[in-house]
Amino acid sequence: MANSLFRKKKIESILAEGADDAHGGGGSLKRVLTVKDLTFFGIAAIIGAGSFSSLGDAVFKGGPGVVVLFIITGIACAFTAFCYSEFASRIPVAGSAYTYSYASFGELFAWIIGWALIMEYSIGNVYVSFSWSDYFTSFLHKVNIHIPDYLCTSYREAQKAVEAGADPSSDLVKAWNTAPMLGSLRFIVDLPALVINLLITYLVFRGIKESRNFSNAMVILKLAIVALVIIVGGALVFSNGLSFNWTPANDAGVKSFMPNGFSGVMAAVSGVFFAYIGFDAVSVLAEESKNPQRDLPRGMILSLVICTTVYILLSLVLTGAVHFKNFAGVGDPLAFIFEEQNLNVGWMQLLVSICAVVAMTSVLLVFQMGQPRIWMSMSRDGLLPSVFQKIHPKYKTPSFATIVTGIVVGLPIIFTDKSFVIDFTSIATLFAFVLVCGGVLLIPRREKQPGRFNMPYINAQFTYPLIIAVAIFLFAKYGGTYFSDAFNFDFSGNADYNEGKVSFMDLATPNISVIVFWAICILLSILSMIKKYSLIPVMGVTTCLYLLTGMTKANWAWFLGWLALGLVIYFLYGINKSKLATAEKK
Ligand code: ALA
Repeated sequence: MANSLFRKKKIESILAEGADDAHGGGGSLKRVLTVKDLTFFGIAAIIGAGSFSSLGDAVFKGGPGVVVLFIITGIACAFTAFCYSEFASRIPVAGSAYTYSYASFGELFAWIIGWALIMEYSIGNVYVSFSWSDYFTSFLHKVNIHIPDYLCTSYREAQKAVEAGADPSSDLVKAWNTAPMLGSLRFIVDLPALVINLLITYLVFRGIKESRNFSNAMVILKLAIVALVIIVGGALVFSNGLSFNWTPANDAGVKSFMPNGFSGVMAAVSGVFFAYIGFDAVSVLAEESKNPQRDLPRGMILSLVICTTVYILLSLVLTGAVHFKNFAGVGDPLAFIFEEQNLNVGWMQLLVSICAVVAMTSVLLVFQMGQPRIWMSMSRDGLLPSVFQKIHPKYKTPSFATIVTGIVVGLPIIFTDKSFVIDFTSIATLFAFVLVCGGVLLIPRREKQPGRFNMPYINAQFTYPLIIAVAIFLFAKYGGTYFSDAFNFDFSGNADYNEGKVSFMDLATPNISVIVFWAICILLSILSMIKKYSLIPVMGVTTCLYLLTGMTKANWAWFLGWLALGLVIYFLYGINKSKLATAEKK
């Protein structure tokens, strides 16, 4: 049994399957994508709801110092991109992290990763659809077209607002109060979010070529307008003499780049990380790229570098233009800074709304293309029914899996809300990233090969333990109560705890994750000394784990529940039906 769970696919057999035209049940995917297309796909997937929507909340929590989190997250993603690239250059077939973990960790982990990636690709798109709808309706509003509140609001959000006793004049409460009744149920649905999901599903179903051209055009437009926000906003910050906003006073009156301290910055981790999700989506297009071994790594890293630069500049412009506290509850921060009470540039507000709709459409498109391709790989391995690998005879797309993706995104649009899905998506994706970086450590090193991506090998034997020792020193010296808080489980001095507003586990979870994080760092230091690991993947594991320490108990609870459900399905189906299981029985 234990052996079956960790049975691995040989890299050679994955490659042979990828090259085999017959296995797709109707012909393989078309190889049309170049490095430019792949970079564009990366940017299309990365810049979206994270920058246009969740950035507002991130800035509110962390102040201008959120820039530091963007840099840390950018570095974590860069390490991860190197690891994805290493895998993509060795295993250039569709499937992304799922396929990679099948070759390195074995079947059980591969299934877990495939299952976690549903969070990234499908549930992530639920958040983007909600944000798309917010901007779309606000754009319509600006051109004097009004959709009733109950037709552009998620049921859960309206219900939560009413339960929390929100202001009756707020849109959410209005949606609740004006909704038509269906028996005892209120009819409240985010219709634009559902409609965009339907349109995207149709487009992806029709095929990669149309989608590619559409996506490239949208990326150019989106980059142009984001650049305009940075230039116009940045110029106004300086010409209006607003740069004092970069060191705002905190509640104690002390001026600081991080007014809520580093813990305030870390509280923004879900939103900031969400903004980066997407560079890895490039790897699922392996079977559609002309030269995947060379172009996938380039596309991934190039798109990451461009987006990191954009985020740093955007965060600086936002926090320079408006005092960070004014971003409370702001869902459209890039348009908000140009409103009358802020920089007051009317035409920019309209332009940003259009851009946001475009940017999010391209994110939706890339993820909706990625999910069916992952399922296709899982189906090839027998972990999902064979219908998931069915390729449309005319359009050459994974037709059934594309339709199921549309349903998996569409249903939560009806039943969930934004805040729930963003945390869920970020934690599951970080988890997948940790396993991809860890997986690189498990595959044998190889000689450099010309014309392919070769991850630079830096011996971690002494460098990694040194980095960890320096990090411990810096946290101890400059991190205030970082370590003493981590080891303190006596919360009797906490007023919320004493009043029963938060439980022991709510407060203890960050401490537990910090202790586990440093324990893993020490373990990795010892292993690096013994096994001479490559530094880049070890740093990838470390930085992604560090970001996971920012997740709350609720995030962990939902994520672990989701994993448990996945395991039940694996033990009921995949463990017996997988190709490797069938081969073992023969
Ligand atoms: N990074 C993507 C976005 O921000 C998921 O929309």
